[in-house]
Amino acid sequence: MEPWHGLIKQYGYFLPVSEKTPVITLNEGNTPLIKASHISDIIQEEVNLYFKCEGANPSGSFKDRGMTLAISKAVEAGSKAVICASTGNTSASASAYSARAGISTVVLIPEGKIAKGKLAQAMIHGAMVLQIDGNFDDALEIVKEVVDKHPFTLVNSLNPFRIEGQKTAAFEVCDQLGGAPVCHALPVGNAGNITAYWKGYKEYQAAGESKSLPKMLGFQAAGSAPIVIGKPVKNPETIATAIRIGNPASWKDAASARDESGGVIESVTDDEILEAYKFIAEREGVFCEPASASSLAGVIKLSRKNFFSKGETIVCTLTGNGLKDPDSALKLSKPPVKIKADIGAVEDLLRGCCI
Ligand code: F0G
Repeated sequence: MEPWHGLIKQYGYFLPVSEKTPVITLNEGNTPLIKASHISDIIQEEVNLYFKCEGANPSGSFKDRGMTLAISKAVEAGSKAVICASTGNTSASASAYSARAGISTVVLIPEGKIAKGKLAQAMIHGAMVLQIDGNFDDALEIVKEVVDKHPFTLVNSLNPFRIEGQKTAAFEVCDQLGGAPVCHALPVGNAGNITAYWKGYKEYQAAGESKSLPKMLGFQAAGSAPIVIGKPVKNPETIATAIRIGNPASWKDAASARDESGGVIESVTDDEILEAYKFIAEREGVFCEPASASSLAGVIKLSRKNFFSKGETIVCTLTGNGLKDPDSALKLSKPPVKIKADIGAVEDLLRGCCI
């Protein structure tokens, strides 16, 4: 078997590329779809629940799917510099792919509101990092103005190549399951990913690669839930900083994905997100970031309203790797026990615990 060669080579037939497109890849995609093993602890109905583990992408999030295409197309068009606003993952991914392409990156991030690992990624890849005293929505407005006036390529999901690349996650889910799931749950922030998955599922079905379409289930954090409440949120708040967004760019497309698929977009509280985050780590052995866990938090919430039927297949996208946000993990876990470097002291502690 040929080694995996990234999304553009794998799914080029479905993507706006030609032989002239220089493929900038870090071999993204082909991420694991893992069946949940302890889901009956928290969900009454017997469902088949899978995690699509996007934290296994090269920069640790699903953004790499869109970025391989956005950066390849930027290079094809002769661009020398890209810019984006970000809650962290887009900036990490853009910085990695532009480093590989040998072009410059500028990222605008909300000061103090991005996870440490993501900031470290943008910095080590050599991006110019601008921390603004505003939120993601403010940053996005500024970068939109910058690209109107200066020769930068915008690599936020307003760039259609981002959505095109990200839709390949839906192809992979169908390939891995042998068809589309009944429901697909994912976190919603700027709303590009739910838009991309829905586009991917529809295109794969139209091409005869899958028979059915899933219901799209999107979940926003309760303090940042503009689509749920039907109006922009001026000062969005949530511990899930990746989805701390008050005025999503792909709002209309996300609403279409919900309505065309017969799905829902609902909110989950920070407590519900953290409960799911801990469950995924402690019971399923997968370390995702808090925002990612809102997909499962939403499924748990819907299951309590008897939304699912016995035997249904549900996929939850875990959008980013937990290692990006060590602070959240440390805050929620028992601290390490400090102890003398002595076998007797260790045995004293272990007694009554595991020996
Ligand atoms: N999960 C994670 C881990 C994210 O980083 C994001 C978005 C989302 C979910 C939501 O996806 O925006 O397509 O609805 N992060 C963006 C960023 C906004 O700048 O990294 P979406």
